[in-house]
Amino acid sequence: MIPVLLATIVALLPLASAHIALWHPSMYGFNVTQQTFPYDNRPVAPLQDFSFDQWWFHGHLDFPPNDGDIFPLPAGQAATAELGCNKGVTSFFASSEGRTDVSQGDNPCPSDDGSFPSGAMHTTGFDDLTGCALAIAYESDVHKIKPEDFTVFSVNQTCVWTKNTDFQVPERMPPCPEGGCHCAWFWIHAPDSGSEQNYMNGFRCNITGSASDVPLAKPQVPRRCGADPQHGKPDATPGNCTYGAKQPFYWFQKEQNNMFEDAFAPPFYTDLYNFKDGAQDDIFQDSYPNGIPAPIPEQTVVPTPVLNPGAASSTPTAPSSSTSAPQGHPSALFRGGNGKARGGKNDARSLKTIRDLRQKQKISR
Ligand SMILES: *[C@@H]1O[C@H](CO)[C@@H](O)[C@H](O)[C@H]1NC(C)=O
Ligand SMILES: *[C@@H]1O[C@H](CO)[C@@H](O)[C@H](O)[C@H]1NC(C)=O
Ligand SMILES: *[C@@H]1O[C@H](CO)[C@@H](O)[C@H](O)[C@H]1NC(C)=O
Ligand SMILES: *[C@@H]1O[C@H](CO)[C@@H](O)[C@H](O)[C@H]1NC(C)=O
Repeated sequence: MIPVLLATIVALLPLASAHIALWHPSMYGFNVTQQTFPYDNRPVAPLQDFSFDQWWFHGHLDFPPNDGDIFPLPAGQAATAELGCNKGVTSFFASSEGRTDVSQGDNPCPSDDGSFPSGAMHTTGFDDLTGCALAIAYESDVHKIKPEDFTVFSVNQTCVWTKNTDFQVPERMPPCPEGGCHCAWFWIHAPDSGSEQNYMNGFRCNITGSASDVPLAKPQVPRRCGADPQHGKPDATPGNCTYGAKQPFYWFQKEQNNMFEDAFAPPFYTDLYNFKDGAQDDIFQDSYPNGIPAPIPEQTVVPTPVLNPGAASSTPTAPSSSTSAPQGHPSALFRGGNGKARGGKNDARSLKTIRDLRQKQKISR
């Protein structure tokens, strides 16, 4: 009896053909099912080769959240999002197709045969994760938002490994306008299993506990600048990075792409495009008081962000063995060990100097 029942529940869930979405009542398309559109446009369906209206907000603008449903983002703290291949694995299972809680702990997509990671996660293992991102637009009217208005403010480089996924919210996020902001979750997975797929789920969001009024800078298109050994680039090219506020990747659609990489070299929310793990603390109008030089591979001037203006001391701090700077990230090497920006005049550093610094940091650890 019990096995029969379980089999029935599993059969009700279209898990096999599913992928991953961010689930929350504040999202557009919260109740969209396989039957709502003439094609499978569930929030978990991947987006590729679509017209703008089809991919933007997942084509769910006519399926807005209920009034008052808004995703709170506490400035300076973590917000936990639920990622899953079916609403049934999230705390919102009651309005899922099966109306049943089919969660298995923190597993974003329990598979029929018990294997992990399931196909929907599109990864061969933990070392093959490519990160996902939350972006924000300071606009309460969803119809006014354009793709170039979204700024990535938080990255989790190890998603989609767990259902409950933390996103660190930068401490200096300014308050949202009356009526709130709009956010979206973005993910592009590793090319191993089904390549050119994009994911976007839009939702209403609001910054809470804000303590800063400095607006976000105008977001620029991210650039490929991290070590990329699979494509013949063993070393990072920090001068080629986009620094500061960055747009999400819009890739492999019929219209309005900002990324043109081929199917075997997708753009990722990792160091590969200068998206450091966690809060994107350098996205504000005052983050780079000395400006940002034009990014090109030969660029040797790497800009120094001032992450906490007012609190930053004018005395340059020597690199230390502190672990507060994220390791392996190009710009981490240009900050003092306390995470504060260092003074201006030594901005230009060759890759050799970077390696020497890294070596010293290793030794002093
Ligand atoms: C989604 O469905 C649930 C249950 O049927 C309902 O209570 C809720 O209002 C719906 N939400 C939206 C945004 O349509
Ligand atoms: C990414 O999410 C996981 C799971 O919630 C969490 O353990 C990890 O700390 C998060 N990473 C960052 C940088 O917040
Ligand atoms: C957003 O959060 C702020 C601060 O908590 C609050 O005053 C405001 O009413 C919220 N906006 C919405 C639309 O919920
Ligand atoms: C620099 O960035 C551009 C844009 O992303 C990319 O096409 C190019 O391959 C990168 N060059 C190097 C040397 O990393």
